Amino acid sequence: MYPAKEHAIKTFTKLVELLPPREQSKPQIFLLAGAVTPFRNDTDREMIFRQESNFYYLSGCAVPGAYLLLTFQNGTSLDSNPSSHLFIPKIGLADLMWSVPPPTINEAVEMHDVTRIDHLDALPDAVRELLIAFPDAIIHTLPTGSPLFPAIPSQYTALALSRNARFSDEYLLTALHCARLTKDAAEIAEISKANSISSRAHEVVMRVLGQGVRSAIKPGKCAGVDRPLLPGEWLIEKEAEAEALFVASCRREGSVHQAYLPIVAASTRASTLHYCCNDREFSWGPVNAQDHKNHDHLAHDDSRQLNPQVLLIDAGCEWNCYASDITRTMPVGNGGKFTPEARAIYALVLEMQRLSMEALKPGLHWDAIQLLCHRTLVRGFQRLRIFKSPQSTHSGSWNAEEAILASGVSSAFFPHGVGHSLGLDVHDVPSASKPEKNDTLGGIELGHESFYTYLRLRLPLQEGMVVTVEPGIYFSPHLLAPVRDSRHIDHKVLKRYESVGGVRIEDVVVITKDGYKNLTTVRSDTDWIEAVCSGTI
Ligand code: GLY
Ligand code: MN
Ligand code: MN
Repeated sequence: MYPAKEHAIKTFTKLVELLPPREQSKPQIFLLAGAVTPFRNDTDREMIFRQESNFYYLSGCAVPGAYLLLTFQNGTSLDSNPSSHLFIPKIGLADLMWSVPPPTINEAVEMHDVTRIDHLDALPDAVRELLIAFPDAIIHTLPTGSPLFPAIPSQYTALALSRNARFSDEYLLTALHCARLTKDAAEIAEISKANSISSRAHEVVMRVLGQGVRSAIKPGKCAGVDRPLLPGEWLIEKEAEAEALFVASCRREGSVHQAYLPIVAASTRASTLHYCCNDREFSWGPVNAQDHKNHDHLAHDDSRQLNPQVLLIDAGCEWNCYASDITRTMPVGNGGKFTPEARAIYALVLEMQRLSMEALKPGLHWDAIQLLCHRTLVRGFQRLRIFKSPQSTHSGSWNAEEAILASGVSSAFFPHGVGHSLGLDVHDVPSASKPEKNDTLGGIELGHESFYTYLRLRLPLQEGMVVTVEPGIYFSPHLLAPVRDSRHIDHKVLKRYESVGGVRIEDVVVITKDGYKNLTTVRSDTDWIEAVCSGTI
């Protein structure tokens, strides 16, 4: 069963630490509303329901329209055994007729790790009884007046307000984010499951691309003319087809929805970090003389050949409200092989990721990984001659590695953070990940300030944290515009690489006692990616 009580104790403990000392021994009550099913206007049909993450964390309850009352008091029996009272809607005739009803109370009791479950109409009395038993309690809610959290209707707060009970929305979200920052075994199991489903979906897309290269996908007689193409007859010739196959693969394994809208970007569109159109055909045209040929008749129209290009897919499904977040960049056209330029950039991003992962362990500050990635990029670009190098090994030169790092120019190619916390949400627990006042640095070396602008995690790693490791290199015209006259760049060499667009490689890892465990199972080594995408394995 989902460990909701453990989560409640962890959250109460964090909350008490946040309170002023004079409030810490008072009874603390949490009052939370779950998400309600959204309906689309003029359709009478539900839109996707997703439980509010904090509600799920404290209750394990995915019933729409539910409420939760938790009670805790430091130094009493309630501190090891807080009372948790869940309220679910009653089954109505209309629910049975139109849709799937909520569970009965008896069914819900079997499913949830809470003290007691009642129907929603019992909530006002339950609040009244709590206020009689604990007249000096503080009632904590998620931020009120925010569209991000379900509102609590006044019928459930009126009585407490009339008795001058003290409400606070100042501490609960921060306490929840602090508690959610490290994951327990049950949460890691859910994240692993989401990641393994998404890993297979990435491999499915790559293998279908490879089958296309080998002409192993036959449209069948009359397909596409007298009858629609069946899934086994689809080639992937457009971003939308890749997205459709990815989502279908997750869905057939039981995942209800994606953790975020998939990013499926071919060619130079891969330089848009959160590209959201997924609507273009891959580009077509002659394969350049120096490139590998498509060794067969790619595409159902034999006269066409795909241009060599990359296809970046950043996509991950959700499993029981827990996210995955995986990016793979694969070669399209060119017989399923990277061009020499794309291969070199791919290898460099892989090196950024490998060196990052090798360093992971509790205590390591995430800012250090960000700097490591920039340093690796600068070294790699010097090897590729995109960045100039000193003629001699004189380290004080204006174009030495340290000088280039200090200039911040690498941010034009790697503008985002190397990773973020992941859990119930993809960019999980933001308020606990990036302290406003960073007093955790402890004298570690920092790079140019631009390296940290979009870094979503700025903490030392702890055992049980789940994070993404997602370096990337991009050639975005918008990001390159300000460095077009940089003296560190050999602009002629850069030109050769710009058509690569972008490469990102992203895995999800859990920090262990002495290192990390990779929860992403789809491989990313260059030879394997090319072998699969060219259909040779
Ligand atoms: N999928 C968005 C990200 O990687 O952060
Ligand atoms: Mn990510
Ligand atoms: Mn991602």
